[in-house]
Amino acid sequence: MKITISMIKADIGSYPGHVKVHEDVMKVCEESLKEAKNDGLIIDYRIFNAGDDTELLMTHTHGIDAEVIHKFSWDTFIKGTEKAKELGLYGAGQDLLADAFSGNIKGMGPGVAEMEIEERPAESFIVFAADKTEPGAFNYPVFKIFADPFNTAGLVIDPKMHAGFKFTVLDVFEHKKVTLNTPEEMYELLALIGTTGRYPIKHVESKNPDIGIAAAISTEKLALIAGRYVGKDDPVCVVRCQSGLPAVGEVLEGFSLGHLVAGWMRGSHRGPLMPVPLKYSQCTRFDGPPRVISLGFNIKNGKLVGPRDLFDDPAFDYTRQKAMEITDYMRRHGPFEPQRLSADEMEYTTLPGVLEKLKSRMEKAE
Ligand code: F6R
Ligand code: MG
Ligand code: MG
Repeated sequence: MKITISMIKADIGSYPGHVKVHEDVMKVCEESLKEAKNDGLIIDYRIFNAGDDTELLMTHTHGIDAEVIHKFSWDTFIKGTEKAKELGLYGAGQDLLADAFSGNIKGMGPGVAEMEIEERPAESFIVFAADKTEPGAFNYPVFKIFADPFNTAGLVIDPKMHAGFKFTVLDVFEHKKVTLNTPEEMYELLALIGTTGRYPIKHVESKNPDIGIAAAISTEKLALIAGRYVGKDDPVCVVRCQSGLPAVGEVLEGFSLGHLVAGWMRGSHRGPLMPVPLKYSQCTRFDGPPRVISLGFNIKNGKLVGPRDLFDDPAFDYTRQKAMEITDYMRRHGPFEPQRLSADEMEYTTLPGVLEKLKSRMEKAE
């Protein structure tokens, strides 16, 4: 049976500031999802938050990029926005960049990670949702999970994974994409995806055609869509696991470093991505540090079993502790790089204004 998993998310308002989605906004969105399930539009759903982002997880049979699902999600976010406005929440509707829905939600603000799968007899997958960072934040863990044998033992010892994976990478500036094979083109892949702000991984496929898609990541860039700062494009990622794909533990292992990502305060800083359970998905210290949650599911005929809150585990305490040490160290750099992003990566900047003001005083240097 072909099933589509759609993760669609938007920041439609939070409190206080950009910290957390309000329970009443979640309730309104959940009502909408319940109705869609009763009407048969979707098979199943879950709703949760990643900091100030409202996350809709849906299963259905309409395929990826389906107008009915995207329009439904848009309408759900509109209803949530109305509630957010009524409550006077911060940034109500901030990710809904268009006045009306037009065919496909991509490019209108919300983030989308979707995959159509042929359900295996036992199908496990994990949904990751990050706050205060960008889609390229998933480049490092997704590379580790699907291409690094020091992370994923299965690449070496599971014959079904031994052939490797295919990575599709976007150039978000030029609106282009390229597919690279690993392990053969690993160095070419790394040459691109190390530039996280420009070359996010869009999806990963198994070289085994019986398995197909393995991971999908949302790659919407709000700043580029809107042409001005409207908030970080906090990303989501769906990863299938087991039986010819990385095991759940190999997938989670990719997040054990607390690697440095762009985002954090005012989308203009660099800090560690801290893996947290749902209850700690609220960005407080300097609006951060950037966080990621992971919810694990099994799926049967589109019906969801779960979630398991996978980072709710002392096995990640050390990573969290390390992330806080890195947080402290990075913070002490204040307005200096690399705590602050480079001028062209910052979401907020006064630099052009400062340069303009100093123009008449700028002299030729010897
Ligand atoms: C970063 C983020 C926050 C805000 C910051 C200032 O993604 O959402 O760090 O940038 O709280 O917010 P405004 O400009 O709305 O006052
Ligand atoms: Mg926000
Ligand atoms: Mg957010």
